[in-house]
Amino acid sequence: MSKKLRIGIIGSGGIAQGCHMRGYAAVPELAEIVAVCDVNEKTAQAAADKFDVPTVYTDYNEMLAKEELDGVSVATPNKFHKDPTIAALKAGVNVLCEKPLGMNADECREMCAAARDAGKILQVGLQSRFAGAPVWLKQYIDAGSMGDIYYARAQAIRRRGVPGWGVFINKELQGGGPLIDIGVHILDLTLAMMGYPKPVSAFGKTWDDLGKNPDLWNSWGDYDRTKFTVEDFAVALIKFDNGAVISLESTFMANGPDVWETQLYGTKAGAKIRPGDEGKDAITIFTETNRQLMDISPANIPHVESAHVEEVKAFVNAIINGEPTPVPGENGLILNAIFDAIYKSSVTGNEEKVDVTF
Ligand SMILES: NC(=O)c1ccc[n+]([C@@H]2O[C@H](COP(=O)([O-])OP(=O)(O)OC[C@H]3O[C@@H](n4cnc5c(N)ncnc54)[C@H](O)[C@@H]3O)[C@@H](O)[C@H]2O)c1
Repeated sequence: MSKKLRIGIIGSGGIAQGCHMRGYAAVPELAEIVAVCDVNEKTAQAAADKFDVPTVYTDYNEMLAKEELDGVSVATPNKFHKDPTIAALKAGVNVLCEKPLGMNADECREMCAAARDAGKILQVGLQSRFAGAPVWLKQYIDAGSMGDIYYARAQAIRRRGVPGWGVFINKELQGGGPLIDIGVHILDLTLAMMGYPKPVSAFGKTWDDLGKNPDLWNSWGDYDRTKFTVEDFAVALIKFDNGAVISLESTFMANGPDVWETQLYGTKAGAKIRPGDEGKDAITIFTETNRQLMDISPANIPHVESAHVEEVKAFVNAIINGEPTPVPGENGLILNAIFDAIYKSSVTGNEEKVDVTF
């Protein structure tokens, strides 16, 4: 393909401006943002002005009809991922949709089916895998250096980190709280390291006492406690068909330290990874040599300037080269199906089946 890709943006708020548009702007020789759409015209115009985009829309159907796009980023609140994604795919346009892919697995099934029917790419906005430390650890695991990974402990724990903007505390618009919003990143990273085994069941529990408490300080801006309808804390044990288990903890508020890491336990070695970090703190490998326990820190992991920019580049390259995306919609479906089972389990008190049928 010799011409530049024509890109549209659907939902031009925080993540679109901070990450997606920045990502396309980083590859001007390959892609050009030709239109921005947001239901809020001022937001669309502000984004367009910032990135020198000629045209704004408030209706994505009109944008899809008029702009002959090759790709769109869908960066709307979770409830509004499905409809624009399916509309774009039906119009023959490739989609990079923000995480979580849908409000639930049923929505994801529809979105994946639309991509298959259209023969177009559906990529999920899960950028953690593109950071330097995860890229290095993945090739270390794939080389067999850790043996079989049979257990992982994934933690996305914020002590006082309820997003004070957007709709992140609104279950109706988001589908859930920290589990679906940030647990999705650490769980995706963990699953990617383990080769995305097939989940079979989950047992989970959620709480919401701290998030609703008006007396507690929040580090990410103030918010109306009476409108807090999501969980503030979620914990789960997830079982996979290869016998592996993941324990997942994800919080917006908790009386414990901030943690953003996953620990992987393999038959040959273990690893602790903090995906957002660089340098010696990013990865520790736990192994044994000549009956000596060794804690090893890789010292020259290649620097990645922005995982978000790498994610957008992966989308652009998949379109140009006609290759599958490294983060397909089916991964998003698996994540949403796990969350469905965890939320259900918290209500029933039982271990619940994870339905990943496509
Ligand atoms: N990958 C990440 O690390 C990351 C970080 C933050 C947010 N996100 C995801 O990005 C999405 C948006 O989050 P945000 O923080 O940018 O929110 P935001 O509120 O800043 O922006 C969302 C924008 O979508 C617009 N919008 C709503 N419905 C629309 C529609 N039908 N058509 C067009 N525009 C519409 C809103 O007016 C708003 O401007 C969410 O799904 C969130 O989970 C991902």
